Amino acid sequence: MRDALAWQIELGADEAIGDSPVSRFDSAASAARERGNTGAQPSPQAAPRAAAAAPRGREGDTRETGDARPGRVFAAAQLPHPAETADSIDALAALCEACDAGDLKAGARNFCFADGRPGASLMVIGEAPGAEEDRLARPFVGRAGQLLDSMLAAIGRTREAETPDRAVYIANILPWRPAGNRTPTEAEMALFLPFVERHIALADPAVLLLLGNTPVRALLEDRRGITRTRGTWQAHGPTGIRAMPSFHPAFLLRTPSRKKEAWADLLAVSVALEEAR
Ligand code: URA
Repeated sequence: MRDALAWQIELGADEAIGDSPVSRFDSAASAARERGNTGAQPSPQAAPRAAAAAPRGREGDTRETGDARPGRVFAAAQLPHPAETADSIDALAALCEACDAGDLKAGARNFCFADGRPGASLMVIGEAPGAEEDRLARPFVGRAGQLLDSMLAAIGRTREAETPDRAVYIANILPWRPAGNRTPTEAEMALFLPFVERHIALADPAVLLLLGNTPVRALLEDRRGITRTRGTWQAHGPTGIRAMPSFHPAFLLRTPSRKKEAWADLLAVSVALEEAR
């Protein structure tokens, strides 16, 4: 016990700031250490608790204080995200599945990571699995997925095609179905964003098709709403991959009058893919 206290003081945790004890197993520091070993991530709930547990002010991040003593840095802010270390899509999927997503994961049946052909020049990103996707562990296989497949077929793309310029690769922002098909929370999107970013980098598409508000908010940080952003080319990430926001097929099923715009978006995607060949 004395050794544990001495070690904490050495780390800079030399004053009590809460009324109740904080579990070391929930802290950002221990989560970071575990991530280093297992790839597991802190739960969405852990981050605020960890921030509360971290010493404030002079004991805080060296980037603000200029205090470069090694023990005073809280490791979670400094380590690369484990997703960045994945050198293959399989390795990334394993890390993503191991990520501690708390109730989200507990409420889902199956891990639903991707479908289609990695390396396809077109990558489609949706929101999160629905009931059918959760049952079959494949993205976009319910009614919305069937509509998506026929839209993609109309521009000559299928999940099964052998060649990158005829194939499509499909994923979601969340790999687990939110209970009752609710919209993902900001914390859930933030938790999985590093995995999605790495997924895109490893799949290396020429064009991204982003379906609905969730991927547009998460990947482009654009909160104007899909009705405003759809049909306008955006640049994603450090390499500026061309990204086209469009309506989600579930929305098109409810509002068929908007299919015309979705079709225009898809044609623009098709032209961009031809140009990229
Ligand atoms: N909606 C999505 O956004 N993704 C799926 O996989 C299914 C429905």
